[in-house]
Amino acid sequence: MRIDVVSIFPGYFDALDLSLLGRARQRGLIDVRVHDLRDAAHDRHRTVDDTPAGGGAGMVMKPEPWGEMLDGILGSDGADPDPLLIFPSPAGEVFTQRTARSLARERHLVFGCGRYEGIDQRVFDEYSERGRVRLLSIGDYVLNGGEVAAIAMIEAIGRLLPGVVGNPESLVEESHEEEGLLEYPSYTRPAEWRGREVPPVLLSGDHAAVGAWRSEQRIERTRRVRPELLPRELRGEARGRHAAE
Ligand code: ADE
Repeated sequence: MRIDVVSIFPGYFDALDLSLLGRARQRGLIDVRVHDLRDAAHDRHRTVDDTPAGGGAGMVMKPEPWGEMLDGILGSDGADPDPLLIFPSPAGEVFTQRTARSLARERHLVFGCGRYEGIDQRVFDEYSERGRVRLLSIGDYVLNGGEVAAIAMIEAIGRLLPGVVGNPESLVEESHEEEGLLEYPSYTRPAEWRGREVPPVLLSGDHAAVGAWRSEQRIERTRRVRPELLPRELRGEARGRHAAE
């Protein structure tokens, strides 16, 4: 997969050199290219923002540097004929594990990271007319810009690409993956630490019992922390049980 990222703070994306994603890049599984938006601003101060039309607080990112930068990326060697442009934004659709799975099937993603009060609307309008554009939010809170959100999305997508995570089975039982439930708690050695024991069932060698315990833990944890994620049939069970109590 090819991923281009446009930002006025390319240094944020040094984080993508680390860990599993860094290794995947070295092995050629993901081709990440980071671009400094200021390279497409040609005045003495390399200006990328201006005051909002109609007045108001803050600054808005100018359309010209975005246009030049995105045209360059979309027209570059090896660019896909149908790339997906993603603008991280608190005003976008919420990015979930389902979104990550769907984006992991794309050949070419381009992330445009806005700062300040956002990017001039005409940039979205222009590229929506020419191709596919999505505004995506990583949650209901406001960051200072799209960089951290883009890194979160790139990591969530990148680890789903074939070969990136060493043991693909480890992807299956995670929170949000299997049946939309949270994951079960994990333990390792020693069997006792500061008077706290590993649940005996996990040391029993009874695989069926371990499986049943984990499944129960996932349901319990989801019911306690994120009841809205519980599949309908398990919600029904919860009501039944409370009614019987
Ligand atoms: N930019 C600022 N806040 C954001 C958020 N929550 N998600 C995506 N991009 C953002």
